[in-house]
Amino acid sequence: MKLLEERILRDGRALNADVLLVDSFLNNQVDAPLMAEVGRTLAEAAKDLGVTRVVTIESSGIAPAMMTAMTLNVPLVILKKSASRILQDGVIQTEVFSFTKNAAYQLTLKKRFVLPGDRVLLVDDFLARGEAATGASKLIEQAGASVAAIGIVIEKAFQPGRALLTEKGYKVISLARVAAMGEGYIEFAEADA
Ligand code: G4P
Repeated sequence: MKLLEERILRDGRALNADVLLVDSFLNNQVDAPLMAEVGRTLAEAAKDLGVTRVVTIESSGIAPAMMTAMTLNVPLVILKKSASRILQDGVIQTEVFSFTKNAAYQLTLKKRFVLPGDRVLLVDDFLARGEAATGASKLIEQAGASVAAIGIVIEKAFQPGRALLTEKGYKVISLARVAAMGEGYIEFAEADA
């Protein structure tokens, strides 16, 4: 997505070779018109996949996922991050370890919002090592649904997330793929849409 790459070049900042700061349009402040375009682009890329629901992970996934769900005219379901295990009927959880934050959390789904037979478009802001997307896919499948595709706003293509997900058979649609970055430069690989 050309507009997104241009925005990353203009306002993104590589904190180091691993972490890209995009707080001004994605993480802390959200550029709503840009997210609308993100949503339209992801929805267009997934239009033939029979998507019945969009699922995302709180918190930064919500804005792009909401716009995608709006364009596809399907419900948006939010997976929460809980510090501890919840023993409650209708709730399923899986542990996810975040290397960026060096902490584990319980990714949590209320099962009644993802139904058996649903075809889910999973949307998240970043793809790094693929831990969050793997955990989310596991919950979606435990609920009896299938993952039609995984839509990502910014993929760090130099990290192993994409390989992990494609090896498991998931279709990954990344709108921007950062191939390399460092002080003063950000380079892209070819995006999926
Ligand atoms: P993984 O799921 O692909 O393995 O990624 P990882 O655990 O490393 O990512 C954990 C969190 O850090 C996620 O946010 C992810 O969006 C974010 N993240 C990863 N790499 C970057 C980066 O280079 N730049 C920025 N800005 N964020 C990155 P989160 O914990 O879910 O936070 P939030 O959604 O509540 O904001």
